[in-house]
Amino acid sequence: MTNTSDNSNFMKACRLEPVDQTPVWFMRQAGRYMPEYRKLREKYSLLEMVAQPEIAAEVTLQPIKAFGMDAAILFADILLPLQPMGVNFEFVPGKGPIIENPVRTAADVAALKPVEVEASLGHVMEAIRILRGELIDVPLIGFCGAPFTVASYMIEGGPSKDYRMAKSMMYNTPEVWHAFMEKLTAVLIDYLTAQIAAGAQVVQLFDSWVGALNPQDYEIFAMPYSKKILDAAHATGVPVIHFGVGATTLLPLMKKAGGDVLGLDWRIPLDKGWDIIGHDRGVQGNLDPVTLFSTPELLEKRVKEILAQATGRPGHIFNVGHGILQHTPNENVKAVVEMVHEFSKK
Ligand code: CP3
Repeated sequence: MTNTSDNSNFMKACRLEPVDQTPVWFMRQAGRYMPEYRKLREKYSLLEMVAQPEIAAEVTLQPIKAFGMDAAILFADILLPLQPMGVNFEFVPGKGPIIENPVRTAADVAALKPVEVEASLGHVMEAIRILRGELIDVPLIGFCGAPFTVASYMIEGGPSKDYRMAKSMMYNTPEVWHAFMEKLTAVLIDYLTAQIAAGAQVVQLFDSWVGALNPQDYEIFAMPYSKKILDAAHATGVPVIHFGVGATTLLPLMKKAGGDVLGLDWRIPLDKGWDIIGHDRGVQGNLDPVTLFSTPELLEKRVKEILAQATGRPGHIFNVGHGILQHTPNENVKAVVEMVHEFSKK
């Protein structure tokens, strides 16, 4: 069968080409809000699911089959490269990721291991190859975390409100911070480009914690490393999506770092965000994920507002402004996919 995904609306939007209806997908679209996912999760932990390519592929497809999104995102996690670097962690229910041996000193950074991605994360690439065999008209997104976000997890050891330890490393021992970021960036470049080589048609860089930084610190401590990854991905020829949370004041610098499409959270109206970024790039967003707990009437209003702000300009990908939440009513997810398609149809 001919694979038609390269000519899909999602790929066209990534390339800023006109589409006949706005493409839509949701960050964290596979997960605990879906009964199909919870059923598998009864048998396996998250890391076990990710380690088995057939299961990772199955979970990736669950939301596509149930809701008809325009893109699939590989089922994996931004923390997967930690273990091969020698940093162990687990997902603790109710707490999130907890890291056993956080990276806090120059010696910890020196001990980080280089990673042979095919040898230690080959199961991720295998899941991509399986998915490319199964997906006909729906493109596949690969991803990794941005160095600032991933390093912050590794330093803090788990979720943090103030990033005290990560920022203290930046401010007090900048040489240790930069050495850490160099090592991590090298691993993330290999990991992301291996995903592209395996068949990921678009990649997204998730900088979920970057909103903790002011622009000056972002420019010195985070941006050069994100830029290296974005440049490396871009050089392969695939479109790149660059996403941050709470990053309204960082948008001009994030654009400079790279990305064919910039992801917006819900804190800024989509049109204002797109004006700041410039219309030479695409935008992805930006429905507040909590509106999915509301009524069809409110959802319709919000979907129409976002589409009106995008004005039908080429390069808009509809998404939530941050990952979809646990307990999200499934029927609202389906309704939003349908609304985006219906209201944007040309
Ligand atoms: O989008 C998708 O459907 C693909 C899969 C995906 C997961 N994590 C699976 C997952 C993606 C793209 C991610 C990215 C990710 N992981 C990010 C960036 C996006 C964001 O939301 O900001 C971050 C910060 C992580 C780290 C992470 N992984 C956290 C904080 C948690 C705990 C969250 C929680 O609610 O408990 C995870 C676990 C995780 N990763 C789950 C899923 C489906 C839930 C785990 C479960 O089933 O128990």
